[in-house]
Amino acid sequence: MADVVFERVTKIYPGANGVPAVNDLSLSVADGEFMVLVGPSGCGKTTALRMVAGLEEISDGTIAIGGTVMNNVLPKDRDIAMVFQNYALYPQMTVAQNMGFALKIRGVAKAEIAQRVGEAARILRLDEYLDRRPKALSGGQRQRVAMGRAIVREPQAFLMDEPLSNLDAQLRVEMRTEIARIQRLLGVATVYVTHDQTEAMTMGDRVAVLRGGLLQQVDTPQDLYDFPANEFVAGFIGSPPMNLILANLDEGQGVTRAHFGDQSLLIPEQYRSTHALAQWIGRQVVLGFRPEDLVADNSTTDDLLRARVDLREALGSEILAYLAITSNTDVVLDALPTSDAETVRKRSRVVARLSARTDVVEGSLITLGLTTDNLHFFDPNGGRSLRVLTS
Ligand SMILES: Nc1ncnc2c1ncn2[C@@H]1O[C@H](COP(=O)(O)OP(=O)(O)OP(=O)(O)O)[C@@H](O)[C@H]1O
Ligand SMILES: [Mg+2]
Repeated sequence: MADVVFERVTKIYPGANGVPAVNDLSLSVADGEFMVLVGPSGCGKTTALRMVAGLEEISDGTIAIGGTVMNNVLPKDRDIAMVFQNYALYPQMTVAQNMGFALKIRGVAKAEIAQRVGEAARILRLDEYLDRRPKALSGGQRQRVAMGRAIVREPQAFLMDEPLSNLDAQLRVEMRTEIARIQRLLGVATVYVTHDQTEAMTMGDRVAVLRGGLLQQVDTPQDLYDFPANEFVAGFIGSPPMNLILANLDEGQGVTRAHFGDQSLLIPEQYRSTHALAQWIGRQVVLGFRPEDLVADNSTTDDLLRARVDLREALGSEILAYLAITSNTDVVLDALPTSDAETVRKRSRVVARLSARTDVVEGSLITLGLTTDNLHFFDPNGGRSLRVLTS
C-alpha cells in the first residue's frame, strides 16, 4: 500500500493552444485515504486520474506512488487498479473468470486466483453469483464485479472515474456506501472522481474541488461546507447551494450593516475580527448564507429578510422556497449591461430550506428570520473568502 502525490502537475493536450486541462496541481493522497476529486464537467478530473494511471503523459511536474516517481513508468508497472464508468465486463466469462482474468494473464497460479477471487467475492457479497455471466446480473451486481476485478489485484492504489454514473439513483446511493465500506476495509489509497457533490461529500475522507484545471480547495467534507475558501466552492458544495448576494457594508453607531436593495442586515461583532471587515466598510462584498439558516419562525433569530416567493418545492420532509429578495432589483437590472445584470439577478435569488409545515404561498411576500452565526463574506472580485485564517 502507498500514498499518491501530485507535485505541481500540469497537463496541456496537444492542440489545446497551451490551455492546461490540469494546471499546477499539488495534492497528497495519504496511504489508506479516500480522496474525491470533484468539479464541473471539463475541470480536469479524468485527466488527473489518467495521469496517475499512466494513460496520459504528464506535461510538467511529477506524480509519485509510494514515494516512487511514476512519470516514466509504464501503466502496467504502476501497480494501480482503475474502475471506470462503463465497467465493460467480458460477456462470455463468468463472474469468477471476470474477476480473476487480470491475475490469469499475469500467470498467477490457479489456486491463488481462486483464493483471491473468493476473498473479494466475500467482501463484495458476490459469493452466490460467481458462476453467473454478467447478463444475468443487476446493474449494481455488475458494478461490484468491476470492483472485484480491481480488488483481486491487491493494488497500491485504486483509481475510480465516476463508477456509479450508469446506475439508477437508488442503486447509486447503495453502492456509494458499499464502495466506501470496502475501501475502508481494504485501507488502500483511493482517488475517486465524480461531478456529484453529494457523492463527494458522503464518500470522501477529503474532497479536492477543481475548477478549470485549478485546485480550489482540499479539505474534509465538513470543513469544505463550513469554511469554503472562495465563492465557487461555496456555490458548488451543498445542495441547494449557498445563497450569495451582493451587499454594501457600512458602519454607524458602532455597528456594521450589510445593505442590499432596500434591506439591511445587522452583522454581528465577531465578523469584524474573523473576516477583517474593517477594510471593507463602504465597499461591496458578496454575502453568503446557507438555505437552512433562513427560518420561518423569525422570533428567535437575529435579523429578518423580506422576500417574494417565486417557487415552492415541497419535498415531503421539507420545503424549498425560491425567493427574490429585493423589491427594486428589476430597476437596478435595467441600468446594467446584460452580463452584469445576469450576475445581479443570480445574486438576488435566495433559496430557503424550511420546515414542511411552513405555510408558503407562491407569489406572496414573506419575512424570514436569518441566523447570523454562519455568515460568509467573499471578495466580489475573484471571489476569495474574507475569512482570516488562524492556525
Ligand atoms: N484527449 C484530449 N485532447 C484534447 N483535449 C482534451 C482531451 N481530453 C480532455 N480534454 C480537455 O481537457 C479538459 C479536461 O477534461 P477532462 O476529461 O479531464 O474533464 P472532466 O473533469 O473529467 O470532465 P467530465 O466531468 O465531463 O468527465 C476539457 O477541457 C477537455 O475538453
Ligand atoms: Mg471525466
